[in-house]
Amino acid sequence: MSFQCEHLSKSFALRGGFVQALEDITFRVGEREFVSIVGPSGCGKSTLLKLIAGLLRPSAGSVVLTAASDDERPASALVFQEHGLFPWMTVLENVAFGLEARGVGRAERHERAMAFIASVGLAPFAHAFPHQLSVGMRQRVGIGRAFVTDPRLLLLDEPLGSLDAQTRFLLQEELLKLWTRSRSAVVYVTHDIEEAVLLGDRVLVLTGRPGRIQGEITVPLGRPRKLEYAVDERVSAIKWQIWGMLEEEARRSLALASREPLPAEEGAVP
Ligand SMILES: Nc1ncnc2c1ncn2[C@@H]1O[C@H](COP(=O)(O)OP(=O)(O)O)[C@@H](O)[C@H]1O
Ligand SMILES: [Mg+2]
Repeated sequence: MSFQCEHLSKSFALRGGFVQALEDITFRVGEREFVSIVGPSGCGKSTLLKLIAGLLRPSAGSVVLTAASDDERPASALVFQEHGLFPWMTVLENVAFGLEARGVGRAERHERAMAFIASVGLAPFAHAFPHQLSVGMRQRVGIGRAFVTDPRLLLLDEPLGSLDAQTRFLLQEELLKLWTRSRSAVVYVTHDIEEAVLLGDRVLVLTGRPGRIQGEITVPLGRPRKLEYAVDERVSAIKWQIWGMLEEEARRSLALASREPLPAEEGAVP
């Protein structure tokens, strides 16, 4: 499988004019690669995922997903910012739904969904409804529902964005486990710099309006990723490097002045 965005641009018609959301986005995702995209709110992250998923049509450029001719898996699956579970369906029905949409028969989809639910420790909740679960559990079900269809490319739009820091930390690890056991490549959108680094093989930094790729960083951490990496000095260095790419725009959006160089410490060696 290979996936490529080539010179992708998108503008929306708005009140007689246009809003340009993305400009000239080019990148590639390899087989089973995990690519993070980090950027501030409004830089076009969700728009980019919708273009890749085929829910929106690009104004210019193209999205190309190629696979071996015997690869029957769905091209892509998108998990929205909100988990998007159906409130009137149980956990089991929600997870099975992704398979139903692909035409898998009833008995098989229940068996596969149940096996998946059991494998992530949610069996006791298989027949619960979303409102009976914690927010974190709902998010796990939403992510699970995407993984169970075994897509070639899984598109995740800030899937942990609404969670408290502790839950989020644990679910990052859980998500990586699911990915390791799957065959999917992942494009993971987040506004959290640390999350982008801890999860990704590469981080693309998207900024501006319209959003453009500001830079790309390869993350030199091994797999499996451990929670301890959060305090690894290589992670701090990369976070600082990414912050350097985002800072000016973040300040502009708050009408703050540029950062002044720190005064030299007295007695410091120049
Ligand atoms: N359907 C739409 N119609 C008009 N403008 C849109 C639409 N979807 C997104 N936009 C605009 O495109 C820009 C990028 O939005 P979005 O992709 O949601 O950013 P992000 O996910 O990074 O917060 C914003 O300025 C937003 O208002
Ligand atoms: Mg968004």
